[in-house]
Amino acid sequence: MPRPSPWTVVPAADYERHMGPEGADQLGPLSAIFARAYAGVRPRRLLALGVATGNGLEHVDPEITERAVGVDVNIQYVAIARQRHQRLGPHLELFCADLERVELPAASFDLVWAALVLEYADPRIAAGRIAGWLAPGGSLVAVIQLPSPGGKAVPSPVRTMDPVADAMRLVPPEELELLAAAVGLAPRQRYEVEVAHGRRLFVGRWVRPK
Ligand SMILES: C[S@@+](CC[C@H](N)C(=O)[O-])C[C@H]1O[C@@H](n2cnc3c(N)ncnc32)[C@H](O)[C@@H]1O
Repeated sequence: MPRPSPWTVVPAADYERHMGPEGADQLGPLSAIFARAYAGVRPRRLLALGVATGNGLEHVDPEITERAVGVDVNIQYVAIARQRHQRLGPHLELFCADLERVELPAASFDLVWAALVLEYADPRIAAGRIAGWLAPGGSLVAVIQLPSPGGKAVPSPVRTMDPVADAMRLVPPEELELLAAAVGLAPRQRYEVEVAHGRRLFVGRWVRPK
């Protein structure tokens, strides 16, 4: 039996304090990166891995997106995302599941959004599964953390995130490029975004060829 993720027991209020202006201050930048990816792809079918409490889903337009699926290991986050995004009604399906095991239909998504989640999964398994979920012509947009200046951890106002920080493994962009190539995804875009505390995020987009 695999060990449960440390994420499963981090209360949503603590997670949001950690990710908000009192802590890492990354919720706003992640939402903006998602908005850009969403506007570029205009997905009819969206899959958000590590959807947490639904940051970014405010940009989903049900006129464009028939089906938005979110996956997260923390059941409280999924419940909050459901409540916060009631306006999406049946267009939004949320699953409390591990991205390494969740069962989703093959070749069924036009955009897979994986922001700051690959650091907590086996990226090789994730890449293979994502490539299988992408429809021909579909895009993976992944966001990963780059090493912090001086190797310092993001300051956190809560201690409940400590086990998560211990479990985190940075994925170098070069490793992600190689994994994407190995599963047949073609690179389309890469850029970096500066966030609070001198941190930087890497954003990459890959496409499953038609
Ligand atoms: C840093 S947060 C993600 C931030 C969010 N994507 C955003 O754009 O604001 C990481 C999330 O991934 C979830 N998570 C971690 N490992 C996971 C896994 N193996 N499968 C699914 N969700 C996972 C955590 O519960 C947490 O909600």
